[in-house]
Parts: sequence; structure tokens; C-alpha cells
Amino acid sequence: MTKILVIDDDQNVQRLLRVTLKQEGFDVVVAADGVEGLRLWGAEAPSLILLDVHLPKQDGYQVATHIREAEGTGTHVPIIMLTAEKDVSQKVRGLRAGADDYLVKPFHQAELLARMKSLLARFSARESGGAGRPPMGKLLAFYGAKGGVGTTTIAINAAIALHAEHQRRVALVDGVLQFGDHRVFLDLGNDRKSISELAAVGSIDADLMKSVLVRHDSGVDLLLAPPNPEEGDRIHEAQMVQILDILRTMYDYVVVDVEKRLGDLTLAVLDHADSVYIVMTADLSCLKNVRLALEALGRIGYEKSKVRLLLNRSNAFTGISVQAAEGVLKRSFEHKITNEYRIAISAQNSGSPFSFTKPDSALGREMAALAAAIDAEAVAPAKAAAR
Ligand SMILES: Nc1ncnc2c1ncn2[C@@H]1O[C@H](COP(=O)(O)OP(=O)(O)OP(=O)(O)O)[C@@H](O)[C@H]1O
Ligand SMILES: [Mg+2]
Repeated sequence: MTKILVIDDDQNVQRLLRVTLKQEGFDVVVAADGVEGLRLWGAEAPSLILLDVHLPKQDGYQVATHIREAEGTGTHVPIIMLTAEKDVSQKVRGLRAGADDYLVKPFHQAELLARMKSLLARFSARESGGAGRPPMGKLLAFYGAKGGVGTTTIAINAAIALHAEHQRRVALVDGVLQFGDHRVFLDLGNDRKSISELAAVGSIDADLMKSVLVRHDSGVDLLLAPPNPEEGDRIHEAQMVQILDILRTMYDYVVVDVEKRLGDLTLAVLDHADSVYIVMTADLSCLKNVRLALEALGRIGYEKSKVRLLLNRSNAFTGISVQAAEGVLKRSFEHKITNEYRIAISAQNSGSPFSFTKPDSALGREMAALAAAIDAEAVAPAKAAAR
């Protein structure tokens, strides 16, 4: 849903815009002063801003100037200034501060919507390569405690939910280089480009990266694994690191479905990750593997808080309760996803992830909650810095 940020201290204007924009299918967030407006710009990544001139704390000119200074190159969030009749002479000042258009209050709803739509079309996030601010560049690694626990399912659907629910720019990397499953889960043929196009390249840049990425219908960009195992073997640790570094400069989230073997390449991915999600089920071999993996990661100096435990199929009968599993591991699960075999398997067989085609299903909602937790955590430091 397209998100609009309204920055206006007048409660009547706030109410009117909230109702009008919601009716038109927009998602609306509201700030009542300039400082809160700047915070929400950073945290919510709106597609367009309606900005009042007279505001407490920082006025509209200052807010617009600040946003334009802070935006990365190649990104531009459209801003419409809302001015009172007496401010019309100040129009030039607003435009100079970085506004793209202005409207005199009281304005007609139809005119507001027409101007918004034209700006949104001109500065659509996809064309400009961003929603008006620098990419957040967070690397999330999903690592399965053993085969078949649902790592790929969760990585793919989390990536889609981050994009769909939070308007984030998301790249999804199939890091299982030899036997990657993303082509199957996403119904893509072997003719689609893969990471192996980058294997022989000394220095990879964003343009080359774009030419290799595959845009999924959900809006998530995919870096696929090669169609055969020999090619997967050609990607080395240093290249993987370079690839992830470039993706971080282009996307808010880089989600990696990681290989199980804890070799050099996997460890390099985990090292570079901001957060590592260990996906597991409540059975004995998973518990053993998670314990070993946590010990190994602890030995090489990982902070405890970087590693999260995600219990998949949490309500499936395994003979080991959630509490017992937590007791064995001496820590609790940060996230739980329930067992919904039908939704999971039919999404897989049809090549259409449930977070894309069935976001309201039980699993779709749980993945949305996971994405919300991930995103809240990622914007928390940004919020603190804006205060
Ligand atoms: N929450 C869930 N409820 C029910 N079934 C699930 C759930 N999550 C995953 N599955 C099913 O479990 C199976 C394995 O899932 P998936 O391929 O995602 O696991 P994986 O850990 O990536 O496996 P691999 O080790 O082969 O890479 C699939 O059939 C999938 O549909
Ligand atoms: Mg997998």
C-alpha cells in the first residue's frame, strides 16, 4: 500500500486528510510537528509527504531542506507543501527548500488527489530506485539447524512481507549455491540469471548487479542460485562478501537463505549479517545442532543478541514441548511460526509464496508479524538518533 506522511499540526486537517486518503486506498501516517515528521520520514519511508508550512519545533521549509540534504543521491521523496492563502508569496521559498508542488488551504480534495497521483507517478519508488531515502542496508541471514525445517519457506516469505507490509526495498539471495530451491518455490525457470554470472568478475558494481537480479512479481529482487551444482561451486567467500556489500548499498534489507554447512562461505555470510535467524523445529537433532551452532558462534565471538531462535511448526507434535526445548537451550525462542502444512505445501507446489498470494492466511499473518518485529528493531536505532 502506498504510504503518505502528513505533517500538519491542525487536527482538522489531519482528520480530513486521514479520511480522504484512506478512502483512496492510501496508508496514512501523521506527525504534528516538524521533528516528529522527520522521524517518521526516516522510520516509515513514505512514498509522498504532505507538509504544512507553519509547524511547531521545525517549520515546513526546514523540514523540506533537511530531507533534501539527507536524501541519498538518486532518491527523492515527493513533497507537497500545504500553505495558507497569506503564504502564497512564499511559494518560491517552499519550492527552493525542495518541495515539488504546493496547495493553498482550503483545497479541493480532487485537486489534492490529482496532484498527489501525478507526483507519485513521476517519482515512483521503482523508477528512482528508492522511496526517497538512503537504503537501510540490513543483512538478515536465515540459517537452518538441519535440513527441511522450513528455512527457505521462512526466508522467502519474510522477504516478501518486509516489502509488502513495510514498503522496504528487499533483495533475496539464495545462498544455497549448489542446490538452491528458490526457482522451485517461486516458479522460475532455469533460464533466469543467477549469481554465477558474477563468479568470474573481478569488481562487481551496482549496474552489473541489477542486470543479474530477477524481479519477482511481489516486488522483491532475487539473486538466484545457479541452475546446477558445478556452477555453485565457483562462487568463493570473497566474492560473496563483495556481492552482499553491494546489495546492502542498494536495498533496505538483504535476506539470505544460508547454506547449512558451516564452512568459510557460510561463516562469511553470518559474520556480515546484522541478525542471524536460526530456524529449527522442536526435535532432538535440531536441539543438538542448535546447541552446537550456538557454541560454535559463541567461540568465534558472536554477540548473543545477534542470533535469534525461530521455532518453526511450533505447535506440531514432536514429543518435545516448547518449554522443554527452551529449557534444553537455556534461552527462549524469539519467534514462533505454527504448523500449517496445507498452506505451506500448496504455496510451494504452486510456486506462489503465501505471503504474496495469501497474506491473510494464518501463516501469512505470522510472517507479517515476524516482518513487523524485524522492521521495528531496524528502525529503533534510527528513531533514537532522530530524537
Ligand atoms: N510452518 C510450516 N508449516 C507446515 N509446513 C511447513 C512450514 N514451514 C515449512 N513447511 C514445509 O516444510 C518443508 C520444508 O520446507 P523448506 O524447503 O522451506 O525447508 P528448508 O529448511 O529450506 O529445507 P532444505 O534443507 O531442503 O533447504 C516444505 O514442504 C514446506 O512446505
Ligand atoms: Mg532450503
